[in-house]
Amino acid sequence: MSAAPPDIRFDGRDRFVRAVDAAVAQGDGHAVTAALRSALCDMTRDPEIRLPACVYAPIADHYARRELYRSPEHGYSVVAMTWGPGQGTPVHDHCGLWCVEGVWSGTLEITQYELVERDAERFRFRAAGGMQAGAGSAGSLIPPHEYHTIDNPSPDRTAVSVHVYQAPLQRCARFVHERGEWYLRTDATLGLDALD
Ligand SMILES: [Fe+2]
Repeated sequence: MSAAPPDIRFDGRDRFVRAVDAAVAQGDGHAVTAALRSALCDMTRDPEIRLPACVYAPIADHYARRELYRSPEHGYSVVAMTWGPGQGTPVHDHCGLWCVEGVWSGTLEITQYELVERDAERFRFRAAGGMQAGAGSAGSLIPPHEYHTIDNPSPDRTAVSVHVYQAPLQRCARFVHERGEWYLRTDATLGLDALD
């Protein structure tokens, strides 16, 4: 976990930051995330923005999280995630933070879960629909609708996504499947991988 904001240079970084700053200045969560979805879609197609080469390198035993930028002014955090073939997440939340996710390359499968019932640390979820998101698409999560999984369904292609979080996401809840629609909540600390 890096304590200091990263200062990573990549082609088009200033353009990227300007677009995210403009979206974040929209104010409330719904307006910000709508503007960010649009900005991320545009930027995935912008030839002047080239993410650092390392974000295309998967890590064998976990999906990679590499922080590209943290805004000193607005507090948001930009993390590139690299999904090797078959890598994915369990059902998790985002600790109450909004997040917008754009697919930079490859395809991801995103499934949202609605909370139906809760018994202390046991949660009952119902899958509320999945979607395949290809390069150039973006989606957002706004609490309380924040429970989801992300998977790279490809047997041979790596996928890369860029996530803009309201603030650095350093912990979240992960839900371990028990049976049927029931899951057990666990606390998870989220690490960051090196940019190299
Ligand atoms: Fe997530």
